[in-house]
Amino acid sequence: MRLGIGVLLAMLSLAAGAEGVSSPDGSIQFQLSFAQSEDPSGRYPVYTVTLDDEEIIAESRLGLTTDDSDNFSRGLSRIDVARRSNDATWEQPWGERRFVRDHYNEAVYSLRFAEFEMAVHVRVFDDGLAFRYEIPEQDGLAIRTIDELTQFVINRAGTAFWQTGDGHEGYEHLYQATAIDEVTTAHTPMTLRLDNGAHLSLHEAALVDYPAYRLIAAGDGQFDVDLRPWSDGTKAKVSLPFESPWRTIQLARSAMGLLDSSLILNLNEPNVLGDVSWVEPGKYAGIWWEIHRGLGTWSSGPRHAATTAAAKAKIDFAAEYGIDGVLVEGWNVGWDGDYVGEPTQDLTKAAPDFDLAAVARYAREKGLRLVGHHETGGHVTHYEEQMDEALDLLERHAVRQVKTGYVGRTGSLKRVDEEGQTHLEHKDGQFAVRHHLTNIRKAAQRRISVNTHEPVKDTGLRRTYPNWLSREGSRGQEFNVWGNPGNPPEHEVMLAYTRLLAGPMDFTPGVFDLDFEIDNKPRRVQTTLAKQLALYVTIYSPIQMVPDMRENYERYRDAFQFIVDVPTDWEQSIALAGEVGDFVAFARKERGGDDWYIGAITDEQARSLSLPLGFLDGDRSYRATVYGDGPDAHWESSPYEYVIRQSTVGKEDTLELALAPGGGAAIRIEPEE
Ligand code: NOJ
Ligand code: CA
Repeated sequence: MRLGIGVLLAMLSLAAGAEGVSSPDGSIQFQLSFAQSEDPSGRYPVYTVTLDDEEIIAESRLGLTTDDSDNFSRGLSRIDVARRSNDATWEQPWGERRFVRDHYNEAVYSLRFAEFEMAVHVRVFDDGLAFRYEIPEQDGLAIRTIDELTQFVINRAGTAFWQTGDGHEGYEHLYQATAIDEVTTAHTPMTLRLDNGAHLSLHEAALVDYPAYRLIAAGDGQFDVDLRPWSDGTKAKVSLPFESPWRTIQLARSAMGLLDSSLILNLNEPNVLGDVSWVEPGKYAGIWWEIHRGLGTWSSGPRHAATTAAAKAKIDFAAEYGIDGVLVEGWNVGWDGDYVGEPTQDLTKAAPDFDLAAVARYAREKGLRLVGHHETGGHVTHYEEQMDEALDLLERHAVRQVKTGYVGRTGSLKRVDEEGQTHLEHKDGQFAVRHHLTNIRKAAQRRISVNTHEPVKDTGLRRTYPNWLSREGSRGQEFNVWGNPGNPPEHEVMLAYTRLLAGPMDFTPGVFDLDFEIDNKPRRVQTTLAKQLALYVTIYSPIQMVPDMRENYERYRDAFQFIVDVPTDWEQSIALAGEVGDFVAFARKERGGDDWYIGAITDEQARSLSLPLGFLDGDRSYRATVYGDGPDAHWESSPYEYVIRQSTVGKEDTLELALAPGGGAAIRIEPEE
């Protein structure tokens, strides 16, 4: 059997016990060994992780069961190791930074069990580590199903930042901060701050044809990987050769240290689509927020929002302010009645009062793009049956981006099998993982990019498929319109250290009308207006929505200028300050330009931040325009109080910012002539 690329092969004796691999800077150490067992037939592999010689992950189990056998869970008799190092830099077609350094030490452990062999691939970077399982083809072995025995044991006190993996709303639950031993079941990324100051985040990379996992707390700091099963209870359906996704541990000495990590991307395969110059980052407006606000409907009738005239008016607004695209929801037939879980959506037919050809043409004439919408209602088979035709229709009208949606509760995706039986599948099970990749590949064949709502979690596949532009996968702005309750002031701060470590999010920042009523019930967006601006920088996504209505932006025209100016594609991103769940600040440099943008946000506490501008070029001066909270601003009592001030700054300067409760600041820094 052949295991990876090896330059040095070593056989470990049982006595040697452990064999390690460390990060290029030597600070992180991964050790693999046999678990102590009197009886050799009971031996299984375990690992530990240290940072600066202090234990982070205590002895934790590795292993798999295949077709309910213990071929790869006990009876470990021998470990061989092959080593390799990598230090290469690659370029993103779009992203939070243009160049990404992929620097690690690798060990491929070949594990000999009683009858068969498997491998554990380990890569240790300066910002964390990852491991994956491989079962090569071998004589006498056939495999149909897999379950996983991976553990993360954390024997230190600390705080966990997590959202329940047990709820009905998929990934759309609030994050909570609790003692580590109060975690029950969590989605990943789950982030931990340990008593020694170390910060880590558990997640996965390159999730392809396998279920996503949740973490189940088993007591005493032990977290078990729990693969989301199919409706028949099977965890993963596989064949040989088999390779699991990477199990990732991002690791840093401070909260900020987690924010600049590219580990998830580095563990994904390079772009397989070739030329992707047709993938277009940018901002988009939409017929969307007004529907959520109750000012129109997705369904047909006198209040139908997606009329030809309304779409053209939205395109006029977008064109006037240099916004690149316009999303139209409710454009198609099938929204009447209860469409959730029902095969009602016809994504090949426009509503009678929506002239798709005319709107698409109007958008092109105005120099911007129409963004398509495929709401599936969660009926995946119904979508798959019409997917080719639906994407062809978009392609015919030169629509190059589509937002997809899978509304409905956890475990409610509909799959109809060959016998016509309907099954309810999870949004993070293997069925969903396969479906999304089918969608991404079919869209790519037509040069269409995708923004998935109610998706499976992001594991960095945008590197391999750069047309997978963004996704939701957490509570977005829309929760503020639904209320009960909306997102609390700490929510967007929490996202930076949890959900956003996985990849871009289509959060839809930029709401300017922060208090309104729906059905005579008050609704509050729990931020200041300045914080809404800052979110365009703190929440990374290559596509960002400009969701509110024209009149709300024009009421605060001077503040709206920041949204008009801010780009969505970056040369460089740098975390400037932060503590998990409390505050965060980023600086980002625009791609193809010299301007820098800073976003700083806080939770419900007012804060003063001093941000040194050492990242600026030394030999020029800049004009900084700060869009900040006014002296009495407060998300609850005076959210609209903002101040815009300008000053000349340089590399030696420090920017002093005062953030209101629930507030933030957005800054544009341009070189002076
Ligand atoms: C939920 C999505 O998150 C939202 O953006 C969309 O408008 C509705 N589903 C309808 O598709
Ligand atoms: Ca949603």
